[in-house]
Amino acid sequence: MSNKLGRNDPCWCGSGKKYKKCHQEFDDKISYIGSKGHIVPDHSIIKTPAQIEKIRESCKVNVAVLDYVAENLRVGMTTEEIDRMVYEKTKEMGAVPAPLNYEGYPKSVCTSINEIVCHGIPSDKVVLKDGDIINIDCSTILDGYYSDSSRMFCIGNVDPEKKKLVDVVKECVEIGLEKVQPWSFLGDMGQAVNEHAMKNGYSVVREIGGHGVGLEFHEDPWVSYVSKAGEEMLLVPGMIFTIEPMVNMGTNKVYCDKEDGWTIYTADKKPSAQWEIMVLVTETGHEVLCW
Ligand code: MF3
Ligand code: CO
Repeated sequence: MSNKLGRNDPCWCGSGKKYKKCHQEFDDKISYIGSKGHIVPDHSIIKTPAQIEKIRESCKVNVAVLDYVAENLRVGMTTEEIDRMVYEKTKEMGAVPAPLNYEGYPKSVCTSINEIVCHGIPSDKVVLKDGDIINIDCSTILDGYYSDSSRMFCIGNVDPEKKKLVDVVKECVEIGLEKVQPWSFLGDMGQAVNEHAMKNGYSVVREIGGHGVGLEFHEDPWVSYVSKAGEEMLLVPGMIFTIEPMVNMGTNKVYCDKEDGWTIYTADKKPSAQWEIMVLVTETGHEVLCW
């Protein structure tokens, strides 16, 4: 914790109040918990009210883009057409798709079908078939502020086993969300997600996780869903991160496509599902910023 402000200096949160009348007690509480051996957030991770407002606006665009895709998704459509919808709707709303050119990623959205765990690249060769499950992962930059969320869609008649996977992963996110409270730990959420997946006979991907988000696409903390209650970073009001577990019907082992360097597949080619929300830790609990 960088605790260099004087008691009478203006608070770092931008309230205009003196530090001693604003966040000093808050910072001292975090430092105390840190001194007990816990991982604690520094100021770069805690958003100010002004930043939260800007991030909220970005989230509204992300939700609108996903809603637009949801309305127009059809069997027989290519994932390239989904990419075009995302690009056009995002631009129309005055924003930019965050994935486009991100570390060399070539498209505006990730489209991950069936045994693709995440980071599927849209293509005019990939056609949505009856019975597919697809994750559509949208991320937006509005006025320099980032948002990120994803949903699963069932195309036509999906077999009950795959449908159950989709539903259970959504429940995992909802159950994890309940653990997001100020002064609890990220691991409380991670363990809850993991237990619900395991109870249903599924496995949780270990190598890829969630992340802080808002001022950048991917910020600290890294968010695991194979973590333990009472471990990982302390949660305090003003933190924003994603809950986005990738849950597999079979093995948790995954591999990356050597050709494109992005697409992640399950090692056993069994289906995988993911939902992603962006959550703000508030004084009294949490607020979902986008889904
Ligand atoms: N949206 C993904 C996430 O949840 C990130 C995708 S990076 C991309 O973190 F470049 F593949 F888009
Ligand atoms: Co994300």
